[in-house]
Amino acid sequence: MTSPCFILFGATGDLARRMLWPSLFHLHCEGLLPEGLRLIGTSRSEKTAEEFQAAVQKSVEERGDKELLKKGCMPDFLKQIDYVSVSADKIEDYKKLADRIGETSDMTFYFSTAPEFFVPICEGLKSAGLSGDNARVILEKPIGKSLHSSREISDAVEKIFSEDQTFRIDHYLGKETVQNLIALRFANSLFEPVWNASAISHVEISVSETVGVEGRSYYDNAGALRDMMQNHILQLLALVAMEPPSHLDQAAVRNEKIKVLKSLRRITPANVSKLTVPGQYKAGELNDEKLVGYLEEEGIPKDSSTETYVAVQAYIDNWRWKGVPFFLTTGKRLNSRHTEIIVHFREVPHNIFEGQGDQARPNRLVINLQPTESISFELMAKQPGLDGMNLQPVNLNLSLAQEFESHRRRIAYERLILDGLKGNSTLFVRRDELEAAWSWIDGILASWRNSNIKPLQYEAGSKGPGETDDMIKFWKWEARA
Ligand code: BG6
Repeated sequence: MTSPCFILFGATGDLARRMLWPSLFHLHCEGLLPEGLRLIGTSRSEKTAEEFQAAVQKSVEERGDKELLKKGCMPDFLKQIDYVSVSADKIEDYKKLADRIGETSDMTFYFSTAPEFFVPICEGLKSAGLSGDNARVILEKPIGKSLHSSREISDAVEKIFSEDQTFRIDHYLGKETVQNLIALRFANSLFEPVWNASAISHVEISVSETVGVEGRSYYDNAGALRDMMQNHILQLLALVAMEPPSHLDQAAVRNEKIKVLKSLRRITPANVSKLTVPGQYKAGELNDEKLVGYLEEEGIPKDSSTETYVAVQAYIDNWRWKGVPFFLTTGKRLNSRHTEIIVHFREVPHNIFEGQGDQARPNRLVINLQPTESISFELMAKQPGLDGMNLQPVNLNLSLAQEFESHRRRIAYERLILDGLKGNSTLFVRRDELEAAWSWIDGILASWRNSNIKPLQYEAGSKGPGETDDMIKFWKWEARA
């Protein structure tokens, strides 16, 4: 029997070193990779398989799980790894790759490269007879930088690999807590009756990072809207807001997500300044460390107007979410690292506790995705005592880390690589989803351009531009008026 093959383009890049090789190593140690799987790394540089294996070993030792590293599975892991030097535009290199792959039952090609290489790689694979029915491709983000460019890439890829063979990765979908969101919503009957505009006043989804641009040259051409909002945040939004799917299969879940993305109200020059806050960090300080501003970062043009922060007040125009704002925020060099979703329920319709100490506050469901993985529900309770009826907020807390203590915290890519190898695309993004997301993001970018809106400055190490609080306050004021 011939063995399957996993081929990684961009095998020496940053993502491969930090995430992909450690993920493959973990899966290998736990015996989860398909029997006999061969791993082939490719990149432009010339090196021997041994040199490459040594580099992989180093990355895995730096980033891998300490317990798994003690298990002694490294030598066997390295034995599975081969290396072929491939320049994306050199057709003859793909023949070399095909020879090295040889007889195989199926092939998974992972493109961890910049998107401009996706099409030449697909063409190279085709020319070497590597695009048959037993092949599939996994595409890393970003897929283009607008609806137009993403369509161009998808059209060209589609000429060679069908939609069923194409897996667009969004690593947030591989995070355990993101999948828990599906469990929370659809494995508990408690929430569904109140998961709508009658019971929920607003929702916040925020991804806050303390890191800066980390020398990534791509960032200045992208910005926070394209880098984080177009993919990760819109995927979270789709999972929070979608209708219950009829099954947990790839078509059903993705059919529901796309409806949400298509129902996003467009942002236009007329409402862009009210509904969005772009920001760019200037010099600041975090934990006693002095931080340079975005414009002082290496390789960033001194007059760049790329946003490193963005907040959007988004609306989903359908029955379930009529009038409910979703405040979506993300930014770099903020004061804390966290990803959280906060569902704010409405106030009680009539307060019977007037004058009794603390007032009944609206309930909140807080889902922490990282760094802690927890879900808490804030309720009002009576303070113990004989004196009247004094209220106090209390938390029903579920710490997923404690509850599932024996489980190792996985890298999000582990689940996705495994699903990709098995051909299960539920946690991957379909072409129509990608395009619906780009179409909404393009609207914001065009409105910024037309209205000449430039990012507001915020101090590195702060919570971002104060204008975001003003946006929320203004909405509250309008909602009360
Ligand atoms: C990547 C973005 O997709 O996600 C990075 O390109 C960002 O800019 C990263 O830092 C955040 O991922 P995580 O898993 O650390 O939240």
